[in-house]
Amino acid sequence: MVRGLSAEPLTPTRRRPMKIRQLDGTGDAAYPAWFAARDAGYAHDFPGGPRWLEHELQVYYERSDAFDVALWLAEDDGAVVGAAAVAMPLKDNPTLGEVDIAVRPEARRRGVGTALLRTVEDEAVLRGRTRFMVDVEGPLGPHDSAGTRFAEKHGYTRRIVEVLRVQRPPFDLDGLARLEREADAHAADYRVLTWRDRVPDEYVAEYARMTARLSTDAPLGQLDYEQETWDAGRIRLREDRLARMRRHVWCAVAVAPDGTIAGQTAIVLAAGDDSTGLQEETIVDPRHRGHRLGLLLKIANLRTLLRDRPGVRTIWTWNADTNTYMIAVNEKLGYVPAGWLVGYQRDV
Ligand SMILES: CC(C)(COP(=O)(O)OP(=O)(O)OC[C@H]1O[C@@H](n2cnc3c(N)ncnc32)[C@H](O)[C@@H]1OP(=O)(O)O)[C@@H](O)C(=O)NCCC(=O)NCCS
Repeated sequence: MVRGLSAEPLTPTRRRPMKIRQLDGTGDAAYPAWFAARDAGYAHDFPGGPRWLEHELQVYYERSDAFDVALWLAEDDGAVVGAAAVAMPLKDNPTLGEVDIAVRPEARRRGVGTALLRTVEDEAVLRGRTRFMVDVEGPLGPHDSAGTRFAEKHGYTRRIVEVLRVQRPPFDLDGLARLEREADAHAADYRVLTWRDRVPDEYVAEYARMTARLSTDAPLGQLDYEQETWDAGRIRLREDRLARMRRHVWCAVAVAPDGTIAGQTAIVLAAGDDSTGLQEETIVDPRHRGHRLGLLLKIANLRTLLRDRPGVRTIWTWNADTNTYMIAVNEKLGYVPAGWLVGYQRDV
């Protein structure tokens, strides 16, 4: 090696210390790097699991009338190695902070996650939040991962366990039609309607009532969560956000003889991307249970989704392990277990 040819005196390069920096919302120029670090962190612990697309999460973490949000990144030696967010509901649950933290695999066990979590919690406490929740997910197997160990190390306790299930092609539409015919006999008084994206004006108030109910009717385990406040305006706000995420929503509802909504279900799928469908928010009003509406709604909705998007590759759904009725419906539809979610909470 030839030495001494440099015209400049050689200065030792200094490693820059780890730095936590708050983003100026999801429009910040650093958002793509924030997203890349978060995505790398989650993908490492659950390869093949359901994933957010960059532009979807950008809208999800926008501030709105319904949520205040703050985002931070961790930089180590100039590279973004970790990402954190806290979402703080404004219309209900006024002391709750929903925490999201991920660290790139190559930067772990150096205190980055801890530094991000402290920053998130300190800031959220200043904004009146004293109840923190975080979800950790993993593939089939024991409910144990870097995320569960990290959460437990920081005083979070397990409040709910959910099973993540997935449905993939081929979809047995003939088999589903047979199930539908059997179930129809139990639901003769109800009318099933389907639509995409926008709740028709005549049902929006009812849809809001059922959406609020869903927030606490689905099993919550030991999570301390208040019923959400929904009205027509908030439904429209969500539709607007989903449109800006470039996501479509397929929806089926059962209308009771008195014109109220007896049950509803929805599947979300990105426009132009068939990889990740999300089966969301199925609820049957307790006054209308026992008529197989859960099964009928899900079959009707899947049929319209497949008519519009026959190439869909996965549909994911989460159920509390105690929600035996919904799990039985999902298994009839062809969902198979694919992973787990543990919901953690810490009160400060
Ligand atoms: C969870 C996660 C954010 C931790 O990031 P990190 O920077 O490695 O965390 P820290 O270095 O601050 O770890 C703090 C403590 O958590 C515990 N911990 C973290 N990872 C662990 C692991 N793989 N095994 C056992 N304990 C672990 C340890 O007690 C650790 O302290 P120690 O290193 O002195 O033993 C990171 O593993 C990750 O991104 N996981 C995937 C996303 C996720 O699950 N997010 C939800 C987090 S609640």
